[in-house]
Amino acid sequence: MATLSVKSRADCLEALVRSSRCAVSLLSNIRYRMFSGSDVEEEKSSHFGFQAVSEKDKTQKVYRVFENVASSYDKMNDVMSFGIHRLWKDRLVRVLNPPAGTKLLDVAGGTGDIAFRFLNHVKRKKLPQSKVKSGSTDSHVTVCDINKAMLDVGQKRAQTFFHSSGISWIQGNAEELPLSSGSFDAYTIAFGIRNVTRMEKALSEAYRVLAPGGRFLCLEFSEVQNSLLACAYERYSFDMIPVMGHIIAGDWESYQYLVESIRQFPDQEEFAEMIENAGFSNVTYENLSFGIAAIHSGFKL
Ligand SMILES: C[S@@+](CC[C@H](N)C(=O)[O-])C[C@H]1O[C@@H](n2cnc3c(N)ncnc32)[C@H](O)[C@@H]1O
Repeated sequence: MATLSVKSRADCLEALVRSSRCAVSLLSNIRYRMFSGSDVEEEKSSHFGFQAVSEKDKTQKVYRVFENVASSYDKMNDVMSFGIHRLWKDRLVRVLNPPAGTKLLDVAGGTGDIAFRFLNHVKRKKLPQSKVKSGSTDSHVTVCDINKAMLDVGQKRAQTFFHSSGISWIQGNAEELPLSSGSFDAYTIAFGIRNVTRMEKALSEAYRVLAPGGRFLCLEFSEVQNSLLACAYERYSFDMIPVMGHIIAGDWESYQYLVESIRQFPDQEEFAEMIENAGFSNVTYENLSFGIAAIHSGFKL
């Protein structure tokens, strides 16, 4: 009888988990189509974690998730990731390496983690001569997020960390940014894009608001590249994270959504293709922690 190696057994298990997830998604999609009203049926379908929902419902449900978790969001990030999300975010800003005078748009910026890192980074840099001559004096970050509760927490943190200047906060949807075309040197989005209902629209908006030469950077959960780690990570995500959400934030469902949404997100290659399709050039990605997260980069040339 043929024996399976540890690697092939892990691969099989992973394939099994994936196919059962697909089946659940497919079944709920069918159920959504069968039992939804006729007017709803005309709406495009989306998914909220493994649940099939209309696009409108997805936006509302995601809004409620972040409204519910806003006050415990930062604490939960540290607990769930053992603080590793901080290193990933540091890496994002190091990859961007913004010179002083950079105008950054941080979309789905939530409680300000990327914005504060950006401000700390540019404070250490000298303004280049070209910016001095053109009169564009200072660096600036605009934090845009759809959710008021997340922005409120972010603004309070900005006071705590003494970031009173060089930052502005606006409430807006990544799919229809309330901002002028070509007005930013860089666009970042960290752990935000998988929550957006129409990712293609968000990517084309990113392209629109960037100035020629501007850079797009996205930090997002991705596909783990090592099958043994993938198995352990799968168990940890589904067995532990919703429990932690329940204990720390009093909210099981929001964290169940979080882990499900990670599994629904395209893998590194697929997402790179979506970025290219939005018009970006020189698209690359870098895996972090064996692909648990990845940073995708592209330029508007
Ligand atoms: C997981 S949090 C990430 C927050 C922050 N970037 C960070 O890394 O800590 C996801 C954020 O995306 C925001 N979001 C979800 N859908 C959005 C949309 N369509 N447009 C803008 N922000 C959105 C949520 O309100 C939430 O603040």
